[in-house]
Amino acid sequence: MPDYLIRHATLRQLQVFEAIVRLGSFTRAAEELFLTQPTVSMQIRKLADAIGLPLFEHVGRNVEPTEAGLELYETCKLMFESLANLEMKVSDLKGLKRGRLSMGVITTAQYLAPEILGEFSKLYTGIDLKLKVTNRESIIERMHANEDDLYIMGQAPQDELEVESYEFAPNPLVVMAPRNHPLVGKKKIPLAAIAEQPFIIREPGSGTRDVTLRTLDAKGLRPNIRMELGSNEAIKHGIAAGLGLSVMSLHTVMLEGAGGPVAILDVQGFPIMRKWFIVHPKGKELSLVARTFLEFAIAHEPKIRKRMQTMWPALRLVLDNKKKTAPRKKRAAKK
Ligand code: PGA
Repeated sequence: MPDYLIRHATLRQLQVFEAIVRLGSFTRAAEELFLTQPTVSMQIRKLADAIGLPLFEHVGRNVEPTEAGLELYETCKLMFESLANLEMKVSDLKGLKRGRLSMGVITTAQYLAPEILGEFSKLYTGIDLKLKVTNRESIIERMHANEDDLYIMGQAPQDELEVESYEFAPNPLVVMAPRNHPLVGKKKIPLAAIAEQPFIIREPGSGTRDVTLRTLDAKGLRPNIRMELGSNEAIKHGIAAGLGLSVMSLHTVMLEGAGGPVAILDVQGFPIMRKWFIVHPKGKELSLVARTFLEFAIAHEPKIRKRMQTMWPALRLVLDNKKKTAPRKKRAAKK
């Protein structure tokens, strides 16, 4: 038993220390933990006294962990992982009455995740929910750091990390135009006609952007990019304001519907049928809450499909054709 440290160091001090190293700053750690700066500094002074060595050194304007600090950081990570597992097992023992579910979802999944979480929370009222919406790079970082229980993505990581992924809902990409655009209402518009139009495109790293560029490239076409935007909502406003056309997920218009200020064009080769996946790092032990949510989301899928088809009836035809040619797997293969 490490008697000395048990008597002189506290878990709270270790928590403060871990946050400073992870965030690279006393100020950010104080913010994250809702503490004042003097409290943070005092906790670290006491911890350094208990360890008997300085834990941080100043390098220019930054603080960096000393060698003793780095050793302590590794120990903290192991301890916190064990404690998180313990919390999870204890909440499993308590059943689903209480618990937490933390999810990280990719930008466009922000239109989908709240709906499913909303339905889930009606059944399990005691579960606290946390949803982080961010780009692919941050989602993968969060997965590496084991920050959330589950992730929703349009494409599971392949080289970066070994994961388990479960297909659970369609993500049709469609070409959108302002309601008063001359192409609205035209049938089977050739892709070349779209490539000529001013175009708004998502930021590099976006799954929507990759697929759009690849689809055009496969036909030897390049979009006439007028603007690059990292937000689907901003793109919708841009389309409505006449800045250009864009390719976006049908989910982005779920609230206003297909008859709103942004119209869906009938373009050859569209919709592009992407899928949503629920992902977690391979080997991660899921909590009872996370396992229950995973099952719930997969079972909820027909409702999402139905809502999409009601909102945009043209989708039914595409999905029916897909069913005839390739029956959908219930659960996606592991990546
Ligand atoms: P986004 O969409 O990265 O363009 O937000 C998710 C995806 O379809 O991969």
